[in-house]
Amino acid sequence: MKLAKNIERLGTESAFKILAEAKKLEAEGKKIIHLSLGQPDFKSPKHVVEATKKALDDGHHGYVLPNGIFECRQAVTRKIKKLYDADIDPERVIIMPGGKPTMYYAITLFGEPGAEIIYPDPGFPIYESMINYTGAKPIPINMLENKDFSINPEKVLSLINKNTRLLILNNPNNPTGAFTEKNKIDILAQGLKKFPNVAILSDEIYSRQIFDEKEMPTFFNYPHLYDRLIILDGWSKAYSMTGWRLGWSVWPENLIDHVIKFCVNNHSCVNAAIQYGAIAALNGPDDPINLMMEKFSKRRKLIFDGLNNIDGIECVLPGGGFYAFPKVIKTGLSGIDFAKKCLYEAGVAIVPGTAFGKKAIDHVRFSFAASQDNISMALENIKKMLR
Ligand SMILES: Cc1ncc(COP(=O)(O)O)c(C=O)c1O
Repeated sequence: MKLAKNIERLGTESAFKILAEAKKLEAEGKKIIHLSLGQPDFKSPKHVVEATKKALDDGHHGYVLPNGIFECRQAVTRKIKKLYDADIDPERVIIMPGGKPTMYYAITLFGEPGAEIIYPDPGFPIYESMINYTGAKPIPINMLENKDFSINPEKVLSLINKNTRLLILNNPNNPTGAFTEKNKIDILAQGLKKFPNVAILSDEIYSRQIFDEKEMPTFFNYPHLYDRLIILDGWSKAYSMTGWRLGWSVWPENLIDHVIKFCVNNHSCVNAAIQYGAIAALNGPDDPINLMMEKFSKRRKLIFDGLNNIDGIECVLPGGGFYAFPKVIKTGLSGIDFAKKCLYEAGVAIVPGTAFGKKAIDHVRFSFAASQDNISMALENIKKMLR
C-alpha cells in the first residue's frame, strides 16, 4: 500500500486524545475532572430539540441543497443583521456540518506549495494541520507577544508578502481566551486595504461568548473586505450544540461555486432535520446564551482567582470563549509535564499549550465549561499536587 505523501503532513487535535486517555483512566476506576474539551457543558436548548424532532416527524428525511436549506440560510442572514447590522445575501451563506469544514475548504482553496498562509500560534490546531496538508508554508502569528494575548495588527500586517494568500484570525481566541477589541481590528482591516490579494478567514465561533458586555469585533464591520472575506461561525459553542455538527459560513460571491462543489464532493448536504433545529435556535430567544454566559462569568472569576493563587502559576483574565491559558513554567514543569502530572496525579484533564502550536511550551489550557464544584475541586487537587 502506498499512501499519498501529504497524509504524513496532516496533524490532529490532541484534546480528543486526552479525552480518550481520561476515559481509559475512568474505566480503571479513577475519578477524573474534565477540563480539556472545548464544549459547553449545557444541554442544547429544548426548543431546538423539539423543532428537530418535529422536522423528523414532518418527513424531512431526504437530501436538501448542498449549501443548506434556504430558510436556514435566511435565518443566518437575519441574525447577522440583528447582531451586526450587516446586509448579507443568503446566497453567500453555506450551512456546514460544523465549523471545521469551513477551515478545511478555505485552506484547501488557497493552499499549495509556494503559497503562504498566516495563522495564530497558539491557535486552533486544525489551521496549521490543514496548511501543512496542502503544502503551503505556515506563517505563525505569535499570540503570546502581548501580555493579554491580543492581536497586534501591525505585527500581523508585517507578516504579509507577495506569497501570502490567506490570513486566518480567531477572535475570541482558542486556546488563550484572548479577546481583541474593535479598535485594533479596525487598524488591521484598514491595513488590509494595502494587500488586495490576501483573503481573510475570520473564525468567529466564540462570537457569543464575550465577557464584560463588550461588543463582538466582527469582520462584518468591514464591507470593503467582503469580496475576499470568509466568516466562520456556527451553533456548536453559542447554543451548546457541538455534537449536532452544524456550522455556517459566509463567503465572497466568487468563491461560492467552488465551496458548493466541495460540499457536493464531500458531504452532499447537512442533515435536513437538524437544519430546522438550527432555524429555531437563531429565531428563538437568546435566553440560553445569556444563561450560559452568566455561569461562564462566575466560573471565569473562580478559575482566574484560583489559578493565580497557586504558587508558580500566572493566569491572564480571559476576555472571551471559555478557556484560561496560564503560564505554569515557574512550577518547574513545562506545559506538557504539567498537563501529564495533572491527569495522572491530580485527576484533572487539561491540554498542554503545545497542542495548539509550537510557541506555547510554558502554558496549559483549562476549559472552564464545567461546574463550579468541579473547577474548585480541580484547583484544590492541583494545589495539593504541587506541594
Ligand atoms: C476556534 C475554533 N474554531 C472552530 C471550531 C470548530 O467548531 P465545530 O465543533 O463546530 O467544528 C472550534 C472548536 O473547538 C474552535 O475552537
